[in-house]
Amino acid sequence: MRSFLAGALCLSVLASAAPTLSVRDVPQTEFLNVTYSSSSGSLHNSSLPNVLILATGGTIAGSSTSSEDDTHYQAGVIGVAALVAAVPDLLNISNIDGVQFANKNSGDITSADVLQLSKLINYALCRSHSNYTGAVVTHGTDTLEETAFTLDITLSCSKPIVIVGAMRPATATSADGPGNLLEAVTVAVDPRAKGRGALIVLNDRIGQAWYTIKRNANTLETFGAPEQGFVGGLLSYTPFWYYPATRPTFKQTFKIAAINTLPAVEIIYAHESYNPKLIKDAISDGAQGIVIAGTGAGDESLAAEPYIAAAVAQGVPVVISTKINVGCVVPSAGSDTIAAGFLNPVKSRIQLQYALANNYSMNATRASFEQVLGSMIGYGASG
Ligand code: SIN
Repeated sequence: MRSFLAGALCLSVLASAAPTLSVRDVPQTEFLNVTYSSSSGSLHNSSLPNVLILATGGTIAGSSTSSEDDTHYQAGVIGVAALVAAVPDLLNISNIDGVQFANKNSGDITSADVLQLSKLINYALCRSHSNYTGAVVTHGTDTLEETAFTLDITLSCSKPIVIVGAMRPATATSADGPGNLLEAVTVAVDPRAKGRGALIVLNDRIGQAWYTIKRNANTLETFGAPEQGFVGGLLSYTPFWYYPATRPTFKQTFKIAAINTLPAVEIIYAHESYNPKLIKDAISDGAQGIVIAGTGAGDESLAAEPYIAAAVAQGVPVVISTKINVGCVVPSAGSDTIAAGFLNPVKSRIQLQYALANNYSMNATRASFEQVLGSMIGYGASG
């Protein structure tokens, strides 16, 4: 939920401090547009790792005039320097460079934004001579799972990206943002976080981005992977891990260096009496792929079948996911549509965008969704 109370806000107190460019690595920081650096002046501690924080907005940067307001605050107000300044302990574990990538409600983050974010992070972490141990992205929780998933499938090295948010604004009596941010940086500098792709850290839990979803619109206990679980957690701001680093079985990765724009892919939400003409309308409006948030395990209505068949005949891939958000849509041999497996609708949309942007054929697109699960359970994927 969001509302706009801008007139009542004391923005001068909350805005970022004046830009202080790091002098440690000028080409790197200039490209990234670093506007906050704990390393300027005498604060750089060469015995500590370096973490890049990219702030995008959300409730973690949210503010209200009332400390009891957890619902009608304005998201995306506080700048990256103020976020770091609110947690002095951060500088005991890491040098911090900060980038104000955006400052908005996460519902306003676009696919193009996330593509650009991924390019910056890949440059910061994965280029040779990078001096960053990991990156932390502060983000609104509403679409956090989408950005985290994108970063996970487009990261080109083994350093960790940690995505963090908050369910209560910074002005709340028991704001969760500062603790979550300290936990996120703590995870980013933990050597055992390497090789796990993108991780979501909130509320003392560490989730793998590929599997983790937002499950509750209001409570602190919201992110999780109901079937696959967490990969670790934090006790007294110290990470522990349930498993050694491992790659999610079904994860596909995509190259992004040559991608400048992403094709439109729309999600159609199935329900009793839904209008399947929406599929045709979405394609007429420019969608190059369709995801259906199907009922149950991805069932389609009889009324939708001709529209789906027409889309596929036009060469538009149709991925069937489930609006249940948990569980899987199983691949079936001979189907025209593509089964999303364990990807929920919003993550299916992103994977389809990146498959299309990489010019995957229909068969290659199908394989990216179906092949691993199909080969495990013995039927379905055509590869
Ligand atoms: C947002 O997603 O930007 C607002 C809500 C939140 O961060 O929890």
